[in-house]
Amino acid sequence: MSDYILEARGVTKRFGGLVAVNRVNFTIERRTIAGLIGPNGAGKTTFFNCLTGLYKADEGEIIFDGKYSLIGVPPDRITALGISRTFQNIRLFGSMTALENVMVGTHCRTKSNMIDAIFHTPRYRREEAWARKRALELLEYVGMADAADEVATSLPYGYQRRLEIARALATEPKLLLLDEPTAGMNPNETEEMTDLIRRLCDDLGLSILLIEHDMRVVMGISDKVSVLDHGELIAEGTPEEVQKNPKVIEAYLGTVGTEQAAEARRRGRDD
Ligand SMILES: Nc1ncnc2c1ncn2[C@@H]1O[C@H](COP(=O)(O)OP(=O)(O)O)[C@@H](O)[C@H]1O
Ligand SMILES: [Mg+2]
Repeated sequence: MSDYILEARGVTKRFGGLVAVNRVNFTIERRTIAGLIGPNGAGKTTFFNCLTGLYKADEGEIIFDGKYSLIGVPPDRITALGISRTFQNIRLFGSMTALENVMVGTHCRTKSNMIDAIFHTPRYRREEAWARKRALELLEYVGMADAADEVATSLPYGYQRRLEIARALATEPKLLLLDEPTAGMNPNETEEMTDLIRRLCDDLGLSILLIEHDMRVVMGISDKVSVLDHGELIAEGTPEEVQKNPKVIEAYLGTVGTEQAAEARRRGRDD
């Protein structure tokens, strides 16, 4: 068995003249958290979209689970193979309840067809009962069993983010891709989400690819951090290595440094 749940080689994606992802080599070891960072517009989401089949990479190869090539494979088939994701902008079925949202995910693993559903065949009833039970378990796992019957859009923001994760888990992934899961969260929600991501890896044995703008989160839980800048992978290593890398400081943390320097100057004037 390959040590890697995912191996991407030379992945390139262009939009007209813009090279959004440029010959990226990237691997994720099984049962680890791989962090992916980079300034806005670096190509992180585009790279995700290449992995999940939303975009077809123009060049390169992507191998999942040591044996499946993902290039040109449609998204639903990629989900069935064992890759699931959440979105940078939450995409829930707004008018459905939390439970129903998760049940949509479980249907990826059931066999009933439309005829079964129309006639409520024994198989359909059996599978629906299973899907409901499974969905409830997952809501409990992400800490929102109390909200099972609430309409998705009425839920607090932190719950909506966790609901997306429950729905992603319902498809029984081996690899979970999280696109900025703590975006817009308050410190409390961020901490809860960080704990949850850690548990997904440690307890459930999932491999995780995490795009994250909150440096404390990504540096705190990633086994490996990769840095994209203008579509190119400019650095990779442990959180400590990446934080010290001058290229990263210049391309990414450099902007933070500038803000901090400006803030220090402002404070200096106030004193
Ligand atoms: N569907 C698209 N069509 C054209 N350009 C796109 C599209 N998606 C992303 N881009 C461009 O590709 C670059 C990378 O974007 P993106 O992957 O969203 O970056 P990130 O997620 O790192 O902020 C940006 O310059 C963006 O404007
Ligand atoms: Mg993005």
